[in-house]
Amino acid sequence: MVSEQKIYLHSRFHKGNVSPLVFGGFLEHLGRAVYGGVFDPTSKHAGKDGLRSDVLNALESLGMTIMRWPGGNFVSDYHWEDGVGPREQRPTVRNLAWTSMESNEFGTDEFLKLCEQMNWAPMIACNLGTGSPEEARNWVEYCNFNGASRNAEMRRKNGRVDPYNVKYWCLGNEVDGIWQIGHTSAEQYSNLARQLAHMITGKFGTTRIEPIFVGSSSPNSPTYAEWDLRVLEEVGKLWKSFENHKKDNQPAYISLHHYAANDENNSEEYLATGVSIDRQIQTIDSVCKYVQARLRLKSRFYLCFDEWNVWYKNRQWNGKDQFSPHLLEEVYNLEDALVVAQFLNSFIRHADVVKIANIAQVVNVIAPILTRGDKLLKQSIFYVFQLFSEFKAGISLDLALEGPRYETKKYGAVDCIDSSAILNKLDRQLTLFLVNRSTENDIPISVHANSFHDLRLDGGIVLSHSDLKAANSFDAPCKVVPQPYDAVSIVGDEVRFNMPQASFLRIILKF
Ligand code: AHR
Repeated sequence: MVSEQKIYLHSRFHKGNVSPLVFGGFLEHLGRAVYGGVFDPTSKHAGKDGLRSDVLNALESLGMTIMRWPGGNFVSDYHWEDGVGPREQRPTVRNLAWTSMESNEFGTDEFLKLCEQMNWAPMIACNLGTGSPEEARNWVEYCNFNGASRNAEMRRKNGRVDPYNVKYWCLGNEVDGIWQIGHTSAEQYSNLARQLAHMITGKFGTTRIEPIFVGSSSPNSPTYAEWDLRVLEEVGKLWKSFENHKKDNQPAYISLHHYAANDENNSEEYLATGVSIDRQIQTIDSVCKYVQARLRLKSRFYLCFDEWNVWYKNRQWNGKDQFSPHLLEEVYNLEDALVVAQFLNSFIRHADVVKIANIAQVVNVIAPILTRGDKLLKQSIFYVFQLFSEFKAGISLDLALEGPRYETKKYGAVDCIDSSAILNKLDRQLTLFLVNRSTENDIPISVHANSFHDLRLDGGIVLSHSDLKAANSFDAPCKVVPQPYDAVSIVGDEVRFNMPQASFLRIILKF
C-alpha cells in the first residue's frame, strides 16, 4: 500500500505574490505561428484585419497577460523597419533562422494593436544578432516616443499617433548558442547589451523600460551559469551607476529557457522534470544574488523564463525557403501536460524570483493550439495552462511536504506529488495544483490547513487518462480534457482526497 502524501500549509507562510506575468505567451515568426496561426486573411474566421477570431478566442480563454514577439531565433536576422509602413511597400525577405520566407505583412503596428485588443502587455525582442544597438534603440523610439523625432514621426505617418509605451524589451535572443545568428561571447554580448540598455532606460517618455538580458539558452549549454554570471556582472556595472546617480530602482531581468523532452521514452524520468526546473531557477537566482552582493547593488536582477515548454517530437526546423511552412508542429499527450503543469508549479513555488514567463509558443509551433484549414484543436497542454491561469491571482504559499518518493537516475529520490498553492485573500480562496508523477499508484493526499477556518470545497478538476500517450487530435479532440473531481472530504481543517496515478488535479477551497 502506497503511503499518504501530507501537505502542511499556513495562511502566513508566504513565498511571494504570484506575478500575473508568469502566464505569458510567445509568438514567433516561425512556421505557421503568425501566418496561418493568428493572422490568416484566407480563413473564414478572419476579420477585416486578417486576424483569426477562433484562434484569438482560444488564446483569450488561456488568460495570457504578456506576449513575446517576434522571436526567438527569428529576431536575430530581423530588421523591424521591413515590417512597418504601407503593406504593399514592405519587402519580402529570406530569414535565415528558419530558412523561411517572410512577407512582413505582420509587423510592429499589427502586433502592438493585437496586444491592445487582447489586453496583453507587449514584450518585444530586439535583434542583437545581425542588428545593432542603434537599430534597436530606434525601434524603441518608434514604439514609445511622444515627441517630434524621425522614428516617432514615422509611427504617426503609419497611422498611430499615440505611443504604444512598450515596457518589456528582450535585448537579443540566445546569442550564447552556436546555432544563433550573431552567436557571440559573453563579453561581446554584454558590451552591446549595456550600450543598448543605457540608451533605452529612462530616455523615451513616461514608460519605464524593463530590459531582459540574454541568459543561458538551456541548462545543458556548455557555458551554463558562467555566461549568466559574466553578463550580469558586466551589465550590473551600469545598474550600479544608476544607483549612484540616484535613479529610482530600475527593474531588470535575466532570461531562462528550458525545453523538456522524453527522448528516451522513459516516463518515470521524464515526469521528474520539475526537479530540473527548480534547480535551474535556484541556480540562476543564486547567480543574481551573487552579483548583487559583489557589486553592492541595492536592487537585484529577477528571472524572466521567456521560453519554456515540452519539445522533442517534431524538430523539423528547415523551412526550405517556403512561406509559413509546417515547422515544429508538436503533438502533446497526457504526460507532456503533466510536465507543463510542473513548470507552472515551479514558477509558483518560486514566486519571489520568477516574475515573467512565456510558454513557447502559442499556436501551431510547439503550442497549446493547432489549426488545420479552418479547424482548431486544443491540445492537452492547453487545458493545464488554462486551469492554472484561471486562478493565478494571489500569494504563493510555502508548503511543507511529507510523502512517497521514487528513485530516478537523473535526480535521485523524487517526490511522487509535485504541488503548489495560491492563497487569494480577496476571494477567500485557496487553490491547490497537484501532479501525481506515479505511473503505477493512486496516492491518498491529506492537506493540513489549520490556519483556515470553515473550509469548503468549491470544485475539483482532474486531467487524466489510462494511457500516458493519449493525445487530442482533429478526429478525436476530447481524449484528454478536464473532468470534474469532487471526491474530496473535509473534516475540520483537514482536506482528504485520492489522486489518480499520472494525473493533474486542481482543488479550489473557500474559507
Ligand atoms: O521556440 C523555438 C526556438 O527555440 C526559439 O526561436 C529559440 O529562441 C529557441 O531555441
